[in-house]
Amino acid sequence: MLATGLVLTGFTAQADEVKGNAAAANAKVWLCVGCHSIPEYRADYPLVYKVPMIGGQNAAYIASALAAYKKGERKHPTMRAIAGSLSDQDMADLGEYYAAQTASSPKNPLK
Ligand code: HEC
Repeated sequence: MLATGLVLTGFTAQADEVKGNAAAANAKVWLCVGCHSIPEYRADYPLVYKVPMIGGQNAAYIASALAAYKKGERKHPTMRAIAGSLSDQDMADLGEYYAAQTASSPKNPLK
């Protein structure tokens, strides 16, 4: 009983505040870098399809856009497929990661 209580408490605390961690996103951005250029990647994809630049965007905006794809409020099929595999924590982490990108950010080694 006690253990169950602790688990539930821990879960609630987490659900209340999902805090993004840019470093944690390093393990996840390989899903995104092929399409979403941080400034130096600009040449990759936009010639084929206009992919929005998300580096430097507001972290909360990125996380909520991802949630909207996951829920189907946004329709782009590829983004929906990708966002569908992300947890709230992943979205918050990715938001922080991309928000921290600037024109002088080093290339992500996972690219
Ligand atoms: C196959 C290419 C591709 C991949 C991979 C991809 N995206 Fe996207 N993404 C797009 C395209 C194209 C759009 C524009 C879709 C639309 O018009 O709704 C988009 C839109 C977005 C938006 C909304 C931007 C805005 O300005 O509203 C966010 C945020 C985003 N992607 C984040 C990510 C993240 C984070 C990942 C990795 C987990 C990722 N994307 C992976 C192609 C991709």
